[in-house]
Amino acid sequence: MPRTPHTYTLHMADFNIAVLDGDGIGPEVIKQGIKVLNQVGFKFGHKFRFDFAPVGAVAIDETGNPLPEETLDLCKRSDAIFFGSIGHPRFDNDPTATVRPEQGLLRLRKELGLYANLRPVAGYKELTHLSPLRPERMEGVDMLIVRELTGGIYFGEKGRRDGGDTAFDTCFYTRMEIERIVKMGFEAAGNRRGKLMLVDKANVMESSRLWREVTREMAADYPEVELGFMFVDNAAMQLILNPAQFDVIVTSNMFGDILSDASSVLAGSLGLLPSSSIGSKVGMFEPIHGSWPEGAGQDRANPVATILSAAMMLDHLGLVKEGDAIRAAVNATLESGIGTEDLNPKEKVGTDAMGDMIAKRIG
Ligand code: IPM
Ligand code: MG
Repeated sequence: MPRTPHTYTLHMADFNIAVLDGDGIGPEVIKQGIKVLNQVGFKFGHKFRFDFAPVGAVAIDETGNPLPEETLDLCKRSDAIFFGSIGHPRFDNDPTATVRPEQGLLRLRKELGLYANLRPVAGYKELTHLSPLRPERMEGVDMLIVRELTGGIYFGEKGRRDGGDTAFDTCFYTRMEIERIVKMGFEAAGNRRGKLMLVDKANVMESSRLWREVTREMAADYPEVELGFMFVDNAAMQLILNPAQFDVIVTSNMFGDILSDASSVLAGSLGLLPSSSIGSKVGMFEPIHGSWPEGAGQDRANPVATILSAAMMLDHLGLVKEGDAIRAAVNATLESGIGTEDLNPKEKVGTDAMGDMIAKRIG
């Protein structure tokens, strides 16, 4: 699939989707997502237009910039962003690199005001044998991690002092930043099982104490939601001991990053979990997994996380029954025992075939 900006369909579209397929396995899983979206378009009578643009290591190679201006412009004028993955080991192993693929993603989040990252984690009955947890611990696991995405230690002042021998990163949060993400947490909990857990480190961090203060004040507006507080170290433990206790977790950028990776493997494979990043007009939808450079181009990656991210995108565009059709197709495919090597090592199918099976079940 070409990576320079180009257009995939030329007819007048109902929805303009910016496709930033990125590095590693990004392009091949995104291709399956587009396959499924086109099938949805065909069945439900919508036209999706896909405009591709580079981001991450490929963009650094092409332009020297992990988020070229044309890519950012395309995102700003689109209805949604469909994002693959970014990252390459040649940067991970080089602490002196000043330009990094990840900067593209962070800048995109910040520039577009995508302050909320929603990461749903649910177990699939037919995959409990893949979970690192005993099957009974997976029973009833269905949670949503609401992660703050444009603040905190990711974006606070950072640097070096003392000729480079002292390094610092600062965690900053304003009341406004906390309020808007916690509001999303309360609302999500209200639409689910009515439980919100604020995860923080209020026994140590001042910014966490502000999170607690603000959240406690806001609780009065959501009497139907049961609010709890948990320190992040305990939360990491509870996610393994008793993940079914959680409904919605709301937390800061860094804690959400760590806890969402930890929870993502509960379901049995990192290749299953989608995410959305929202907060302004245009939302971004991407699998939680990384770019898996070793698996790239080998037709081995699991496209389910990306396909489920496409379903979240449709929900966000107001196409909820279309999103449901994708989720039903994924469920039926997983129930049938068909899977990529992470799901079914004995009778595995490739990325492309997995995408075909899911697309075939739409409608
Ligand atoms: C994620 C990723 C990113 C993050 C990296 C790639 C910058 O780990 O989306 O969780 O830390 O936010
Ligand atoms: Mg992460």
